[in-house]
Amino acid sequence: MRLSERPLIAADTIQARVRELGERINADYAGRELVVVVVLKGGLLFAADLLRALRVPLSLEYVRAKSYDGDSSQGAVELKVLPEQPLAGKHVLFVEDILDTGRTTAAVLEIAQQANAASIRLCVLLDKPSRRATPVHADYVGFTIGDRFVVGYGLDHNERHRELPAIHVME
Ligand code: IMP
Ligand code: MG
Repeated sequence: MRLSERPLIAADTIQARVRELGERINADYAGRELVVVVVLKGGLLFAADLLRALRVPLSLEYVRAKSYDGDSSQGAVELKVLPEQPLAGKHVLFVEDILDTGRTTAAVLEIAQQANAASIRLCVLLDKPSRRATPVHADYVGFTIGDRFVVGYGLDHNERHRELPAIHVME
């Protein structure tokens, strides 16, 4: 597989969309306090930009779930990092790079469900609805894409290309 030279989504397009998502989140959570849970590793770059667009009081947590080996889903999801603070009664917003089959996300959302969070929402940069195997709905979606393997802006192929400022297709 090789990296497409021309980005699928350009860096400035991403930045503009992230600011829009930030404004929607600011409006939706006005007057409330938020716990932002970043889904590592892929959500890192997206979350870093999104956080700087937020003006609601928030605290930051991380989760790490692994379901992917290379570019094929393994099915089983392993939780490797969990939030440090109790999520009971909190307004929790998960920030993830991509919603694909939904297996990772479903496992991650369960952390907040089991903890009895006051509300749970999901913000993803990319959504691949055609790949869904588990019913998961994202409340905030940056871009909806087709069934293509993409890298950049946090997303990897075998741990590479996360640092790219744009989204590229691996072809
Ligand atoms: P899911 O459990 O199938 O929804 O997989 C979600 C995870 O798979 C994401 O958090 C990514 O780490 C990875 N993933 C899915 N699609 C892609 C892709 O196109 N590029 C890079 N990683 C992907
Ligand atoms: Mg990955």
